Amino acid sequence: MPINIAMDGPVGAGKSTIANAVAARLGILHLDTGAMYRAVGLAALRAAIPPEDEARVTALCGKLAIGVAHEADGQHTLLDGEDVTGLIRTEEVSMAASTVAKYAGVRRAMVAVQQRLAATTDMLVDGRDIGLRVLPDAPVKIFLTASPEERARRRWEQLREKGGTDTYEQVLADLRRRDDQDTHREVDPLQAVADAVIVDTTGLSFEQSVEKILAIVEEKRHA
Ligand code: DC
Repeated sequence: MPINIAMDGPVGAGKSTIANAVAARLGILHLDTGAMYRAVGLAALRAAIPPEDEARVTALCGKLAIGVAHEADGQHTLLDGEDVTGLIRTEEVSMAASTVAKYAGVRRAMVAVQQRLAATTDMLVDGRDIGLRVLPDAPVKIFLTASPEERARRRWEQLREKGGTDTYEQVLADLRRRDDQDTHREVDPLQAVADAVIVDTTGLSFEQSVEKILAIVEEKRHA
């Protein structure tokens, strides 16, 4: 039976790592759609186009080829053929991605690529609008969340490991700003769709979160 799993949730809920582990356990691919919006954000910054400039960002997006390659070590994100996987994880690109993801033209282009990819292979697709827009017919929809404080703490620890110097308070403030932008934009704002199962990972370990989702997938597949 084909498996398409939609996973949505706010920043720092552990979506990417949890999605990776769940997909690996199920033996299917994991598509990280946030990386695609990040690539558009990076392209805008490189072209010295302010992310706030919807017309110029949308025009730029129309000329970009955003793609992914699934390698042994996970998804690689391609911007006009260049592997930008390592370049899209900065705080500057995070904020730019959240801004460019507001634009209808950008979303339309990204959703089309994502739907094309998911139509050919079983996939776990993670993002913000997957259950709503990209895979509205997915048999399994998960909304992964955790408290803002827990999400900021995880993100802060991740950044510190990489040598980042931001304080916890700065990380929490940035996270709240991105949450606000992602949940209040006009086009397909982040939300838990009616048929999604909400998984709150506050207080759950990584392995517990993975197990919980696998149990939901199992239950839905046999429903
Ligand atoms: O999941 P992430 O933090 O890598 O996503 C980066 C930004 O892209 C995030 O602020 C929201 C946006 N995004 C989106 O609007 N729709 C998606 N399907 C995935 C991400």
